[in-house]
Formats: sequence, structure tokens, C-alpha cells
Amino acid sequence: MPQTWATLAPDLYLELRGTRRRAGLEQALREAVRSGRLGAGTALPSSRALAQELGLARNTVADAYGQLIAEGWLSARQGSGTRVADRATPAEPAAGVSRPSSARRRSAYDLLPGTPDLASFPRSLWLGAARKALAAARNEEFGYQDPRGLLRLRERLAQYLARVRGVRTTAERIIVCSGFAQALHLLATTLNGQGARVFAVESYGIGLHRDIIRAAGVRTPPLAIDSSGAVIDQLRGLGAGAVLLTPGHQFPLGVSLTAQRRVAALEWARGSGGLVVEDDYDGEFRYDRPPLGALQSLAPDVVAYVGTASKSLAPGLSLAWLVAPSKLVDALVESKRSSGARTGVLEQLTMEEFIRSGAYDRHIRRSRLLYRQRRDLLVARLTERSPGVSVTGMAAGLHAVLALGSGLRGRDEPGIRTRAHRAGLAVQGLAEFRHDPDPEAPAALVVGYGTPPDHAFAGAVEALCDVLG
Ligand SMILES: Cc1ncc(COP(=O)(O)O)c(C=O)c1O
Repeated sequence: MPQTWATLAPDLYLELRGTRRRAGLEQALREAVRSGRLGAGTALPSSRALAQELGLARNTVADAYGQLIAEGWLSARQGSGTRVADRATPAEPAAGVSRPSSARRRSAYDLLPGTPDLASFPRSLWLGAARKALAAARNEEFGYQDPRGLLRLRERLAQYLARVRGVRTTAERIIVCSGFAQALHLLATTLNGQGARVFAVESYGIGLHRDIIRAAGVRTPPLAIDSSGAVIDQLRGLGAGAVLLTPGHQFPLGVSLTAQRRVAALEWARGSGGLVVEDDYDGEFRYDRPPLGALQSLAPDVVAYVGTASKSLAPGLSLAWLVAPSKLVDALVESKRSSGARTGVLEQLTMEEFIRSGAYDRHIRRSRLLYRQRRDLLVARLTERSPGVSVTGMAAGLHAVLALGSGLRGRDEPGIRTRAHRAGLAVQGLAEFRHDPDPEAPAALVVGYGTPPDHAFAGAVEALCDVLG
């Protein structure tokens, strides 16, 4: 039975008694949830009871509750009244790819890019693989490991990557990492240790990745992107020791690096002694064409390939794999060893068994179908309801870029994002991925269609069309 505010939160009650308007009430409640004073699941008094207590009109309180429900701070379920929403619980600040985690937590519909559908994580298959792997593990596998990770996982990955992405490697050249982010950290610090001070990046990408490179004391000049992918010619004269590319599916713009540009990137690396870092974050997900093989398959001596389980399974597993050119293996292993970072053996054993048994292939096939259907639905509904908006980039991965048209510019994106937020929708503007700000660039949204659970996806798309008009 929800209590009165005076007993629920006496100090908050004193504050609320001072509010006379809806906006003030909303703000005080929002703040109380944001700061954790009202924890997740806390039952709130009915709007009638609160209105009586505070001497406000009932509608004022009901409207404030309604707004906070739309923003995702509160939830209302028939029979159990209004409560603080589960996702409103304050969490640690985001450290990963999905930076606007506060928006993610507060919104009823999450269309931020970066995360797969966590509700479809194959729990029972994973559990089965974990049981089997644990039972079969040798005692020494629970001991201190080679900094590269468990040998049998690396052997399994070498086979898998050759089969699925054409990657040419042996287990000796694979370093298991906790994510692409860690692989990038190891690469940037290792290269810096070898004297490289410039690590070129694409002019659109993930801010965290740029931050990681810069934290290693290396500059990140940007390469422009056009319809053929990153403009490789711009590497000339930069003095770069490395370039970070997303050749399979540029993130976030969604183009793929053409054959000519691939050759140009490898020529640059051979000619300058530089390294190409290939971020193959969603190589398994192509919907309208067969996937191009990894760039690494053309030149394993100058390309460092990185794949991750963050899109194919879940970021929480913290599993990724760096395939290094022979000349860098020792230095990278030493960087990992001296960083003190270790990768948990249970996840590695389980992942090995998951791939060995074919469960990983089956999971990828199922996920590919799911995401393809979602993308098709998104495109179909936008075509029907928001004809001014066009979906750009190839049919691949877990995100789409929506060009908003109507003369809207980058500087308009925060306003659109706020409007979406008020409608309970978390979205991200393209400008947030730019290396350098350009308020005059055409406005676009980067929409992640992987994240909402299946039952919420159609609703999320309709809410998006409502906002885009
Ligand atoms: C462009 C890009 N690279 C890499 C990753 C994976 O990063 P991590 O393995 O650190 O989770 C993502 C995930 O969203 C991504 O979007």
C-alpha cells in the first residue's frame, strides 16, 4: 500500500510542499529519482493522495506523473499503481560505446545504436555450453594464462574467422581481449611505444575510440568519408603510424570500403610501414548481399583485425579477438601482460564450446533474420509515415542512418532528440559521431534497431514516426 509522502520520504515531502506548479513538481520528482533518493520500484502515492497532501489540483499531479512516465522515470501498471521505473536506477557512468546511457535508462523505447537485443541472448544454450566446457576443462586451464588468452579458444577462433570472414591467422597471433576498446588501447600504446604519434581515424566514428587513442598520447587526424568509404588518399603527408577503419560497414554512415580503396589502404601500409586496424564489429550481419571478406585476408602482414562478441552475443560477455601481424605480436602481448588485464577463463571456455558445437553459427543465423526483419519494418514504416526521411547506408548491421531532409541541419539535432526524449524515445543524432563539429551538415539520426526487445520494437518504430512526422 503506497504511503503518504510524509512517511515515504519526509525530507522530500518538505521540498515538494514548496512547489505550487506542475513544472516544479516534475523537476523535484525527476531529481529525486535521478539522484536515487527514490529507488527503483518504489511505490508512489496515488495522484489523488499526493494532490491532497500538497494542496494541489489532482490534475496537476496526474499530469506530472504522466510526463515522468513518458520520460521513463516512472512506470504505471494496472493494479500496482505508479512506481519508480526499474531502468531509472542511477548506474555507473557509461564507459562503453553507448555513451548516452542516461537517455537509455530513462526512455521507454531505446533506439540508441550500440547494443544487440539483450532479451534474445541465448541463455539456455550458453548455460549448456558453460556446463559442458566447465566439466571438460583441464585443471591447469584455471591457472594463470598466456596473456593472449586460452589456447583452445584461440585455435577455435582461428578456424572460425577463416571460415566466416576469410581471416588468415594462427592461434599464436590471436590475443583475446575484453572488447574492441581494449584491443584498440593495446594497439595505440604499443604503437606509441614504437614511436608512432599519429593514428588516423574516420571522420565519423565512436568518440570513446578516439579518446582511447588520444589517451595513449597519439593524435587522431580524421579522414573524410564519401560513398566509397574512407578517403585513403588523405593519409598522404599525415605521417600516420596507423589508421583505424571500419571497411565492412562504416560506423555509423554504413558505406563499405570499395575494392580500390582497400588496395590503396594496403599500398599505403606497405609503402609507409604503417598499420591498418580493421574494426569488424558487425561482419556477420549483411542482409542484401553476401559479406565481403575481411580486409585482413588480403594482407595479414599489415592489417590488425579486431572482432567482438558485443554485437553478435552481448557486450556484457566482454569478449573480443585481436588478430595481429606477426611483427607486432610480441609487443602487443607485452602490453597486455604489463597492463595487468586478464580475461576470465569461464567465458573463454564457454565461447570455445559455443563455437565448437555450432550454437554460435545458429545464433548468428537467427539473429540475422531477426535484425533483417526489424530493418525491413523500420524502412517500410518510415516510407509510409515519414516520406521526407530517407534511410541511407547498406542493409547491414544493427543500425541505420536516417537523413531527415526538410532543410534540417546538424544544429537542429539536439532539438529533435529532446522532442523524441519527451515522447519516451532515446535516439542519437549523427553529429554526435563526428570527429569535428559541423552545425551546417545535413541532419540525421543514427537509429539502433537491435536494442528493443521484440515485443517493444513495433511500438518503438511508431513512436519514432510520430516524432519525425
Ligand atoms: C564501431 C564499433 N566498433 C566496435 C564495437 C564493439 O566494441 P566493444 O567490443 O569494445 O564492445 C562497436 C559496438 O557497438 C561498434 O559500434
